[in-house]
Amino acid sequence: MYITDSFGKVYIDLMNATKGIVLAGGKGSRLWPMTTVCSKQLLPVYDKPAIYYPISTLMLTGIRQILIISSPEGIQTINRILGDGSRFGIELSYAEQPAPNGLPEAFIIGEKFIGQDPVIMILGDNFFHGHAITEMLRIEPHEHAKIFLYKVNDPSRYGVAELNEKGRVMSVVEKPTHSHSNLAITGFYYFDASVAERAKRLSSSGRGELEITDLISQYIAEELLSAAVFGRGYVWFDIGTPQALNDASNYVEVIQSRQGISIGSLEEVAWRMGFITDEMLRRIAASMPRCSYKSYLESII
Ligand code: DAU
Repeated sequence: MYITDSFGKVYIDLMNATKGIVLAGGKGSRLWPMTTVCSKQLLPVYDKPAIYYPISTLMLTGIRQILIISSPEGIQTINRILGDGSRFGIELSYAEQPAPNGLPEAFIIGEKFIGQDPVIMILGDNFFHGHAITEMLRIEPHEHAKIFLYKVNDPSRYGVAELNEKGRVMSVVEKPTHSHSNLAITGFYYFDASVAERAKRLSSSGRGELEITDLISQYIAEELLSAAVFGRGYVWFDIGTPQALNDASNYVEVIQSRQGISIGSLEEVAWRMGFITDEMLRRIAASMPRCSYKSYLESII
């Protein structure tokens, strides 16, 4: 089932997942000194904290139960900004990752949260945008694990997937020095309920981390991995560098001012998805100080 609104088709039942994890820890060292006292995921992408964008992506797919994982310092500020999620009509819970031991550790930390359900993990510094994005991110009921690929000029900065002529993923490599593929693995992953057990079986790589590519490789070996490739109408940023942070900010500013819409507004997404009522949105907007964000919310009701 899907509903159609100004975001395009928004899938609800077809996501096959009701739980999401936002991994928002790490040191943000490539963004130093901006990250000396502020976590990377709270840096502004134009007019909102970066973490608003991946959370809004999860919400657009219909997910309302979200676990946010961050460093012991990061988790407190993120909690102060987002709270328990009730003002967005969602349930937010929080867990600490004491040290950045790798992306798959999120599934070990989140094992209880995941329980017997499939889960989507999105990285707190990833930004996705494009027409009918949720249709693109759709998960079919038969899928066990799925990754989403994006053509890039500089694949050595990312995890990279090699596909055969039938479009099946044959292998994935983390930051290869040479690769025949320019398909980067974006920070939006779908895994079945076995993911926590699988993550526990991983051992640290040469750089001392559990690697997401090793986890994905387990699913490849069992022929359980699906993949989708973003077409040219989509935008994906990993805001890990000052240049990428600036590019994402410029993108948001250009689209917002040209079209008079907001990208990644959690209150707006909550309202359009039916998670909060008109009255709630009105009250939330009324509680904000005078700013363009407030005026925008007032204008859409
Ligand atoms: O953005 C997509 C890329 O993200 C993928 O193509 C790569 O396969 C994947 O490894 C990852 O690469 P990055 O170089 O961006 O990884 P980074 O160490 O920067 O971590 C990504 C985000 O996750 C970042 O916001 C910090 C956070 N993080 C990272 C680690 C290793 C954590 O919260 N905990 C961690 O243990």
